[in-house]
Amino acid sequence: MPIIDECQVRRATDVNLRLNETQSTAFRRSRLSLTLEETLNEIQRIADLPLEESITLPREAYASEEFFAWECENLFRPGWTAVAHVSQIPLAGDFINLDFLGEPLIVVCDKSGGVRVLSRACPHRGMDIMPPGFGHDGHGPAEFREGGEDRGHTRLFLCPYHSWTFELDGGLKACPEMGQARDFCRADWGLKEFRTEIWNGFIFVNLDGTAEQSVADQYAQLTDNAARWDIANMHVVFESHWDIACNWKILAENFMESYHHAGTHIKTLQPIMPARGTWTEAEKADYIRCHLPYGDKAREQIAAAEASDGQWDAFPPIEGLGEDGRYEWGLVMGYPLFTLVTAPDQVVWYRIEPVATDRLRLMTTVMVPESTTRHPNFAAMLDRGTQEAVCFHLEDMEVLNAVQRSMLSDGYQRGRLSHLEMPVWLIQRYLAAKIRGTKPTLDRPAASGQMP
Ligand code: FES
Ligand SMILES: [Fe+2]
Repeated sequence: MPIIDECQVRRATDVNLRLNETQSTAFRRSRLSLTLEETLNEIQRIADLPLEESITLPREAYASEEFFAWECENLFRPGWTAVAHVSQIPLAGDFINLDFLGEPLIVVCDKSGGVRVLSRACPHRGMDIMPPGFGHDGHGPAEFREGGEDRGHTRLFLCPYHSWTFELDGGLKACPEMGQARDFCRADWGLKEFRTEIWNGFIFVNLDGTAEQSVADQYAQLTDNAARWDIANMHVVFESHWDIACNWKILAENFMESYHHAGTHIKTLQPIMPARGTWTEAEKADYIRCHLPYGDKAREQIAAAEASDGQWDAFPPIEGLGEDGRYEWGLVMGYPLFTLVTAPDQVVWYRIEPVATDRLRLMTTVMVPESTTRHPNFAAMLDRGTQEAVCFHLEDMEVLNAVQRSMLSDGYQRGRLSHLEMPVWLIQRYLAAKIRGTKPTLDRPAASGQMP
C-alpha cells in the first residue's frame, strides 16, 4: 500500500478551497453561458443519447448557483438523506450535530430509544443551540465526545442565549421569566422536528416533509443486499471528515465509476479490481448499482492466504455473502446522495453534504459487524482497515478538487464517456427524469445492464 501523506492532502484541499474563494461571482457568471432553463434542456437532451454517444454534463451543472438551487429544491430537500447510523448514537441522550443544506440539525436518541432529527434553531430568538466551532463546554448538561464537537451525550438541550431547555424529544422543558408573556403555552414552543425514518440502521431525514414514498418503499430493491451484509446491525468504527472544493456530482460520479482505477488507483485498487472487469446493473428508478469483481491475482492471493489460515482482507470476511459477495466490491448510489461500498469484510458509507456549487462536506466511514469488533485482533485490523480506507480516499481527493477547478476555465471541454462510465450517464438520466418530474425507467425504457 503506497503511503500518502494525509496532511499534505488536507493542505492541498485548503489551497483549492481558497482558489475557489478568489473567484468572484461576476467572474463565475462570465464563464457560464447557459441559463437555468437552457441547462435543464441540455441535460435532458444528452440523457437521451445512447451510452455509446454520451457526453459529460454542461459546466453549468457543476458551477451555476441557479442550478444548485434547483437541485436543493428538487432533489435534496424533497428527498431522503442518510444523516447517521444508529450505531453512532446507541444510548438515550447520544446525539450528532450536522448542518445539512443550511439546516442546523441534531440527530438524537430520545428517552424511549427512538431516533429524532431536530432543528438546532431555538424557537425563542433563533439561536443555534450548539453553534459549531465556538467550543461551548458542554452546553450545560451536554458532554461532547472524543472525535469532534459534532457529537455528544446529554440529558437535556440548553440554549446558551436565554437558557431555555428542551427535552430529548425537542419539547420545551423550562423557560425562565416568561410568566408575563400572554397566552404563552410551553407545549407550542419545542424544537422543530423533521420527518425521519430508519432503514437498515441508517437514519434518514426528509427536510421539506414532502417525500411521497417511505425510504423502505424507495429502496425496496436494495433490501436484500442490505440484509446480506446485515447493515442494520453493523457498527461505524471509523469516521473521517472532509471539506472538499467540488460539486457533489463530481464526488458521486467519481464514487460510482471504476474506469479511474486505471489512473487514480493504478497502484491500489486496479491490481485487485481491474477497471476493465467492472460493470453496472440495468437502470433502476431509485438507485445505481455497480460490481467490481476481483481479478485473478487477488483471487490467487486470497486462496493462498486461506490455505495457510491467514487473512487477506483487513477484517474477517462476512459469512454468508456467497461467491459474488466474497470476491467483489459493490457500489450503490441511492438517489440522491446515499452512497455505499459493500466489500467482503466491511461496508463503507459516505455521507455527502452539498454546501454550494463548488463545495461539499463529506464524512467517510468504515462499518463492520459487531462480531468483528469483538475479535481479539480488532485493534490491529482497524488500524489496517482505516489506513486502506484513507489511502483510497486520499487518491480520490486530488481528483475531486482538480476536476472542479477546470469547470470555469477557458480550456474546459465537455468530454466523451467510456462504457465503463455508465454510472456517470445514469446520473444524467436521473437528473433528466427529475427535470421531467418523474424517475428513471418510469417514462423511458430502462437502460440495459452490462453483464460481466
Ligand atoms: S434564543 Fe434560545 S433561549 Fe433565547
Ligand atoms: Fe476512486
